[in-house]
Amino acid sequence: MTDRSNEVEEYSVNNFSELFTVLSDEMKIDAMCGGSCSCATCHIYIEDLGQNTVVEANQTEKEVLEGLLHMQSNSRLLCQLEHVNINENIAIRIAASE
Ligand code: FES
Repeated sequence: MTDRSNEVEEYSVNNFSELFTVLSDEMKIDAMCGGSCSCATCHIYIEDLGQNTVVEANQTEKEVLEGLLHMQSNSRLLCQLEHVNINENIAIRIAASE
């Protein structure tokens, strides 16, 4: 995980929900809506999924992402990420604040 100051840290977690909680607790993300897909303060970029697969964004997440200045093709909201399988490392970068 690369944070907004370009610091790279590794986390060993079982799922994205756990990562969301850890990054929120460490104040790496603001998570202002608590994970209800409305604030976009958990905006991240998936830089490398490896062999892993994630569930595609639903319509609500897409609409929130489309309203962001810093949206990229690899943008996701961390609070909405679910894995189909998670076998190895995943590289993410926390997006700049809006
Ligand atoms: S925490 Fe608000 S959209 Fe993810």
